[in-house]
Amino acid sequence: MANGAAQNSLTMRKDSWWIAPLITGIVLGVFGIYSTIRALSNQLFEVEATLTNGYLLSPFYSPLILADWWPFSPAILILWAPLGFRATCYYYRKAYYRSFFLSPPGCAVNPIGKKGKYSGESAFPYIFQNIHRFFLYAATFILIFLWIDAYHSLFFEDGFGISLGTLVLTINAFLLTMYSFSCHSFRHLIGGKLDVFSACPTRFKFWGAASAMNEIHMLWAWISLIFVAFTDLYVMLVAQGIITDVRFI
Ligand code: FES
Repeated sequence: MANGAAQNSLTMRKDSWWIAPLITGIVLGVFGIYSTIRALSNQLFEVEATLTNGYLLSPFYSPLILADWWPFSPAILILWAPLGFRATCYYYRKAYYRSFFLSPPGCAVNPIGKKGKYSGESAFPYIFQNIHRFFLYAATFILIFLWIDAYHSLFFEDGFGISLGTLVLTINAFLLTMYSFSCHSFRHLIGGKLDVFSACPTRFKFWGAASAMNEIHMLWAWISLIFVAFTDLYVMLVAQGIITDVRFI
């Protein structure tokens, strides 16, 4: 009788289990709206120092693709890679399955509005989540350009320097690197197929480092998500002339 009641009710949990999925949903929703608006706006994404080839470039538009044959925002040509990487990330899957699909909204909480057989990620459409490793390759390729952008942010009209923008772009590239290299697929790529670690000590070392970073993958996922939006906002405000990029050197 008691078991039947538990199955029919939402949950027997007494704690505030709904707070985490609610906050997650709000933050992911705000990021989704902000990044979509910025990606489609096709403006205020670059501050140039033409004499020295220095610049500040929004990560949403990196690498900058200006092609005559593409009449829309160049960000569309780029963002499929990092967004696909995040959308298929093992951590974010848990986050949005809970917050947006309510399937289930939490541990020991029944799915809301869901009927039918549970097939997890072994059937259409969720089986496509398995392409995550390929998004890792694509997102890592984009990452190279973010480091190149950080390098170019060291040059101003009067030569070499360091500004707040330099720090913002460098920290952003660092956080996204940590997010990528703490990825479960990356860890598997390095050492997942090895049967005997002692035969490959170097790979074992890298696997150990990736495993250590992987333990806080959720943290890298959140701070890199928030900081990439902040980086875009910073470049936009400087490009618009609302703030000045403060020079330290
Ligand atoms: S598991 Fe999160 S990025 Fe791969």
